[in-house]
Amino acid sequence: MPTLNIIGAGKLGKTLGHLWQQQGIFQVQSLCNRTAQSARAAAQFIGAGAACDSIEAMADADCWLIASGDGQIADIAAKLASRFAGQADTIVFHCSGALASETLAACKPAAIASAHPVHSFADPRASLQTLAGSSVALEGDQPAVELLRGAFSALGCETLTIAPEHKSLYHAGSVFACNYLTALMDLSLRTFAAAGIDQQQALQLLKPIVLQTAENNMRLGPEKSLTGPIARGDVETVSAQLDALQKTDPQLAQCYRQLGLACVELARRGALPEEAAVRLTELLSEPTR
Ligand SMILES: NC(=O)c1ccc[n+]([C@@H]2O[C@H](COP(=O)([O-])OP(=O)(O)OC[C@H]3O[C@@H](n4cnc5c(N)ncnc54)[C@H](OP(=O)(O)O)[C@@H]3O)[C@@H](O)[C@H]2O)c1
Repeated sequence: MPTLNIIGAGKLGKTLGHLWQQQGIFQVQSLCNRTAQSARAAAQFIGAGAACDSIEAMADADCWLIASGDGQIADIAAKLASRFAGQADTIVFHCSGALASETLAACKPAAIASAHPVHSFADPRASLQTLAGSSVALEGDQPAVELLRGAFSALGCETLTIAPEHKSLYHAGSVFACNYLTALMDLSLRTFAAAGIDQQQALQLLKPIVLQTAENNMRLGPEKSLTGPIARGDVETVSAQLDALQKTDPQLAQCYRQLGLACVELARRGALPEEAAVRLTELLSEPTR
């Protein structure tokens, strides 16, 4: 079984470490976080691995995962570089969606790769159960990509390859659907709060419609899933909502306008008559009302 060292055993690193260790894909060996206390907690979560208080104290390994924040990956790779002189068999990878494997170039001649799971590791214990079925986008040197394809497939993940020059756009696609969905939920809850409906009640009210909308989008695609005043061309309703939002919180009104314009474009591809689309575009493009 190949050995795996993890620098940055945080939410993602410790989840992958646990799953690979448990399923006999990698033997987790050395762990290094910013603090030794955090590395010890990660070792406990993984159920294996020696917590080290510096990168220099880590043992050699077949495979290295750098799962720090994106901003630290290049510096950590530069720190590691001298260990890999003449070691083309070693594999070094990161899991950033935004960065290409080239961020690890300092580690050459080791084989370098990036492997981005399209999954939210917000709750690592839950991710142990839910990671299977997620997709992982791979890119980098062939031997590293092939090893990681096997390692993620063994966890029940689907794998795809992505060109390095497309990583920023690819990642922005995930940000829209995952991170911005969370921001949309917050906008929705703030609007309900202004209408006197508290968060608990609002979440209860939203759960079926949000889940159903997600399900409709997966099954039918966005054009056929869009309902509501913009899809119907109901200009008066949109105007009244915009007025109410502007009086309550201009930031909510601004977000409503921007997303409303995206909805108009979407509805235009469906059944929205052009005249209504033009009136809605004018209304939503007014800077303030
Ligand atoms: N979270 C997600 O849902 C998700 C999804 C896909 C991809 N990713 C990618 O996975 C990577 C990790 O994200 P994450 O959410 O797991 O981050 P995280 O929970 O913040 O964990 C980052 C870990 O890196 C450690 N660290 C930071 N700087 C370090 C340094 N200089 N030396 C050693 N360790 C250092 C931190 O140590 P301390 O604990 O001591 O602070 C922490 O344990 C990122 O590249 C991210 O883009 C994340």
